[in-house]
Amino acid sequence: MENAAESLHDCGNNSDLEEDRSSEEDFGTSKLGTKEYWEDAYQRELETFKDIGDVGEIWFGEESMSRVLRWMDRAKIPESASVLDIGTGNGAFLVELAKHGYRNLTGIDYSPASVELAKNVLEAEDLPNVTVKEIDFLNCQGELKGFDVCIDKGTFDAISLNPVNTKEGKQLYVQSLKDALKDRGYFAITSCNWTKEQLLERFSEGFEFVQELPTPSFNFGGKKGNSVTALIFMRKH
Ligand SMILES: C[S@@+](CC[C@H](N)C(=O)[O-])C[C@H]1O[C@@H](n2cnc3c(N)ncnc32)[C@H](O)[C@@H]1O
Repeated sequence: MENAAESLHDCGNNSDLEEDRSSEEDFGTSKLGTKEYWEDAYQRELETFKDIGDVGEIWFGEESMSRVLRWMDRAKIPESASVLDIGTGNGAFLVELAKHGYRNLTGIDYSPASVELAKNVLEAEDLPNVTVKEIDFLNCQGELKGFDVCIDKGTFDAISLNPVNTKEGKQLYVQSLKDALKDRGYFAITSCNWTKEQLLERFSEGFEFVQELPTPSFNFGGKKGNSVTALIFMRKH
């Protein structure tokens, strides 16, 4: 997935230094914020998966999934917990969650090709009991509610890059998330575009910050930065 790799590189460059990410408006829009981009990308990944069985891009690497799974263990999230993967892409996180023992899993994505790819990947892994649905998270009309845990890895980032209605999209995201989580349910977000401070501000109302998950940091020009930020919030009604 050539273009995604390019954007991943953007995520890891020194524009991620905390000082450079202090403002809400400090990164522009991009094609990565459009449905067409993801549909094309997952059409290609679907063909590749059917040809050679490669699931494609693991956004932010395998460790980004292990990190959240380790937190779920520490937080004693029961295997029966209902877990929603927002913007599931190729469904790789659903596979890891299922292999870890979670058995009430739902993945949603607005790209039909992503949904087909995730279903194919889950079928190949012999995990038929995971639900994957084509849903636009910004327009889910009450279909998503009562979840114990919502996971986001790169989806809020993508939504924030949408060239159209960017501000509204971010607000709709927060509202959909509030609706989807039950009281005291958890939200685990991994982002490469937003700093901890920005995420704390975005998810301040209706959420309580629980903890930051350690991610690799780097030094550049005497400043310290992280290529990704991983935070846990709790929904408070
Ligand atoms: C950076 S990819 C991450 C995919 C996956 N979470 C992962 O970690 O591999 C962003 C994902 O968000 C999905 N997405 C973007 N906007 C969405 C929306 N409004 N509703 C549902 N999915 C959306 C895209 O289709 C894409 O699968």
